[in-house]
Amino acid sequence: MKKIKAAILGCNGLVGRQFARLLDDHPYFALSCLTASPRSSGKRFGESVAGGRPPAISKKTASLVIRETTVAAIIKSGARIVFSALPAAVSGDLELELRRKGMFIFTNASSHRMEATVPLLIPEVNAAHLELVREQRRHHPGFIVTNSNCVVAGLALALKPLTVFGVQAVTVTTFQAISGAGQRGVAAWDIMGNVIPYIAHEEEKVSRETKKILGLLTGRRITDHGMEIYPSCSRVAVPEGHLQSVNVEFSSLVSEGDIAAAWTGFSAEPQHLKLPTAPRQPIVVSGAADRPQPALDADAGEPARARGMAVTVGRLRSHGRRCSFFLLVHNTVRGAAGGCLLNAELTLKKKLLGG
Ligand SMILES: NC(=O)c1ccc[n+]([C@@H]2O[C@H](COP(=O)([O-])OP(=O)(O)OC[C@H]3O[C@@H](n4cnc5c(N)ncnc54)[C@H](OP(=O)(O)O)[C@@H]3O)[C@@H](O)[C@H]2O)c1
Repeated sequence: MKKIKAAILGCNGLVGRQFARLLDDHPYFALSCLTASPRSSGKRFGESVAGGRPPAISKKTASLVIRETTVAAIIKSGARIVFSALPAAVSGDLELELRRKGMFIFTNASSHRMEATVPLLIPEVNAAHLELVREQRRHHPGFIVTNSNCVVAGLALALKPLTVFGVQAVTVTTFQAISGAGQRGVAAWDIMGNVIPYIAHEEEKVSRETKKILGLLTGRRITDHGMEIYPSCSRVAVPEGHLQSVNVEFSSLVSEGDIAAAWTGFSAEPQHLKLPTAPRQPIVVSGAADRPQPALDADAGEPARARGMAVTVGRLRSHGRRCSFFLLVHNTVRGAAGGCLLNAELTLKKKLLGG
């Protein structure tokens, strides 16, 4: 199969590096373009990544020269697919312009997530919503597919198999890693030995995005899921992995056995299609009394290409019509670059990347 050329926008950031690692030697896509801010353009990727762990990449990827983030540079590279890891303030208008130029955009930025014809996609949860790209293409040569907020990427996945029990309300308290705030996100002085019980706009995103993703597409319109969601978000001094304490209220009595069986038996289109970045088991149920933990479980997921793509749930307790559990999602993999790449793999397999 001839690989499709792809660009990474914002390649130097925490999400951009994960993209570079995951796209190195990818079976469907070949990197043809890396872009970042004017600070980084002109440097070789392998020499420019500042701070944190350098990504495990081949010499070929390390030798790519970073371009300035312009439509002209992206088009000149021959890329048809664009993976965006830019801040939303930079990405919003650029994505619209790239769509006008016929690009297929898979983005982490929040700018277009809630637009009616833009799929907010988690392939195991709402693959049917991908049909909305046909609606975009009635008006534009390209399209935009977004992935969700990083908390939602784990929460909506864990809730999906439970929707058969009639989810009425969800209360979620998060313990979010510092990498969720980006390369320059939180000052060490503020977070060391501390918990910050506020993340700007996060609670609104958790609520509205979860309802859209679990919503029903009828014709050209998504009707949001009717569940109530009560989020409280905090930042903790953990490098990677968002831990969440979740309480769910159902419409009828549900046992721990029912819930655990729904999670362990859950698989969806990415698993059936054997997509390269799909974890064999999307939801890993831990029976240990003290798991999941970010330090031990953030990289859950098999095979090797899908490390960090499985969500781990544990400490399940049911109380009549309610249950409580913890869940862990790798924020820069399942919650960002890995989720975005899985979206592109599914879109290709559904033959929506033509034309
Ligand atoms: N971190 C997470 O866990 C996470 C999860 C889900 C979604 N997201 C979303 O993913 C996106 C990237 O997040 P991140 O954490 O990787 O951010 P980051 O570490 O701050 O990286 C941002 C990247 O964008 C580039 N950039 C910044 N301003 C630019 C400009 N004016 N023009 C061109 N390039 C510019 C930076 O280039 P330089 O390196 O040259 O400065 C860098 O490569 C954001 O929209 C974020 O909200 C992040």
